[in-house]
Amino acid sequence: METVIQIENLCKSFGDNHVLNNISLSIPKGSVFGLLGPNGAGKTTTMRIMSCLIEPTSGEITILGKKISTNKDDIRRLIGCVTESPGIYDKLSVWDNLDFIAACHDIPEPKRSARIEELLRQFDLWEKRDAHASSLSKGMKQKVSIISALLHDPDVLFFDEVTANLDPVSIRKLKDMIRNWAANGKTIIFCSHVLSEIDELCNEFAIIRKHVISLTTPQQFREEWSVYNVELELASHHDQAERILAQMPEVLSHQRVDNRFQIKIDNPDTSNQLLLKQLVSADIPVTYIEKLSVSLEDSYLSLLQKVQEGK
Ligand SMILES: Nc1ncnc2c1ncn2[C@@H]1O[C@H](COP(=O)(O)OP(=O)(O)OP(=O)(O)O)[C@@H](O)[C@H]1O
Ligand SMILES: [Mg+2]
Repeated sequence: METVIQIENLCKSFGDNHVLNNISLSIPKGSVFGLLGPNGAGKTTTMRIMSCLIEPTSGEITILGKKISTNKDDIRRLIGCVTESPGIYDKLSVWDNLDFIAACHDIPEPKRSARIEELLRQFDLWEKRDAHASSLSKGMKQKVSIISALLHDPDVLFFDEVTANLDPVSIRKLKDMIRNWAANGKTIIFCSHVLSEIDELCNEFAIIRKHVISLTTPQQFREEWSVYNVELELASHHDQAERILAQMPEVLSHQRVDNRFQIKIDNPDTSNQLLLKQLVSADIPVTYIEKLSVSLEDSYLSLLQKVQEGK
């Protein structure tokens, strides 16, 4: 698959604060790639370097075949970015803000006005076109910021906490747009603390904290880092069942809660049958067994706890 963004040994320090330490990532065309990590992990810094807003200390990033060290102007034309603080001129109207940015991208008339109108309508801001940017709500400002990033129809989009301040209907619409853009070959780097958004949207994601802690798909990550993935209920014989669970190599861990066991089992699709067979052949009355759906949030917290313990 064609690689659109290649990050190689990226390092960034602010004074003696070493924020990024040897980040290397390869992001394929048409993907929604998630960037996740605790506050201060370096996500925005990575986004800002990729968007040519700040310089790396060392390392190289190649976007659509162009190196950021030597081709910043070309790259700026190919990317759109929404950062944490919307860069909007408060004293200009919504239209004039967008017209100014479209002019910076050399979008000629009448294409320029048509594009601005199309996006304002798409984001339900058409009625606000003549309003002063200072009079907009936070969510409306965020939408203007998103539109600014889209005006020149870039192939690569950097979205840093892009859904912040948007209402649920607008978030749903934006998520649909993102899926659609990716299906049409655009590449989106999506940074969010809302783990359900990462789960829903991203083909792949990296967890960073100065360096890359994990690089995986949401499904693999949930499976790998789930604490418990099977629940079992017994009418009686809990102590005997506990002894059987403790002896089974497929059972990685378990805990008892009242008359139920929560179990982390290696590959529930095949091992659940084995587990049931063992219990039933020992005459243990199993009343219920369920494969639990594990949230990305549970798995993320479980990984971070492990990383913390290993410090
Ligand atoms: N301009 C700057 N000058 C000095 N230090 C900075 C600057 N920008 C970021 N940092 C530092 O770099 C580190 C990473 O910050 P960054 O904004 O990249 O984190 P983040 O992962 O985006 O966090 P959050 O989830 O809170 O948005 C922090 O320690 C921050 O204080
Ligand atoms: Mg940030």
